[in-house]
Amino acid sequence: MSNPDPIKALETANDAPDQPLALFHQWFAEAEQSEPVDANAMSVATIDADGTPSVRILLLKALDDRGFVFYTNKQSRKGDALGANPLAALCFHWKSLGRQVRIEGTVEHVSDEEADSYFATRPEGSRIGAWASQQSRQLDSRSTLEKAVADRTAEYEGQTIPRPPHWGGYRVIPNRIEFWHEGQYRLHTRLIYTKQGGDWAKQMLFP
Ligand SMILES: Cc1cc2nc3c(=O)[nH]c(=O)nc-3n(C[C@H](O)[C@H](O)[C@H](O)COP(=O)(O)O)c2cc1C
Repeated sequence: MSNPDPIKALETANDAPDQPLALFHQWFAEAEQSEPVDANAMSVATIDADGTPSVRILLLKALDDRGFVFYTNKQSRKGDALGANPLAALCFHWKSLGRQVRIEGTVEHVSDEEADSYFATRPEGSRIGAWASQQSRQLDSRSTLEKAVADRTAEYEGQTIPRPPHWGGYRVIPNRIEFWHEGQYRLHTRLIYTKQGGDWAKQMLFP
């Protein structure tokens, strides 16, 4: 690791960085060096309209001062949930580093321009798949999906494949971020940042 870990032997929260996103960027860069695949994979929990929680793995595709972005089908189960309850919890686990980060926040749509730019970077097969898959709906047979892929491939042959209107990005605007570092005998370090007005407050928790 290139930078000393500011969390592992933390004595008090006062000794921690003031900005959680700066710390996240440091941990994420180290995870990209250390995790063999998909260091950007995160659990994303949502709440259905009836209050039922659900969780699935998604890939973090952008992060800036506004928040954490993922892309998906807006008519999927998670899309329906976010329409009813625009709240999400994210959880990263970087096993090789003994680290976990938990994020909670409100969710908003990524702009059409931002979604278009990201969609254009996806491989052609993934762009076709976004049109062909009615994500989270019942599928009667594999051949139905394969026919939809073949039909869309023929439809867009020789053309730029546009972003489907039902496909786009969500940004999680964090109001709570927890950094967890594994310790011996389960005596882990837990550092929590909570948004208080425009600023971040920090505290440690018992493991
Ligand atoms: C490593 C990994 C990465 C994934 N990344 C995405 C993603 O970025 N977007 C997405 O829509 N689904 C992704 N999936 C599939 C989702 O986990 C999930 O099956 C799908 O989004 C449907 O979820 P829903 O029915 O809860 O809406 C990924 C799955 C795995 C295992």
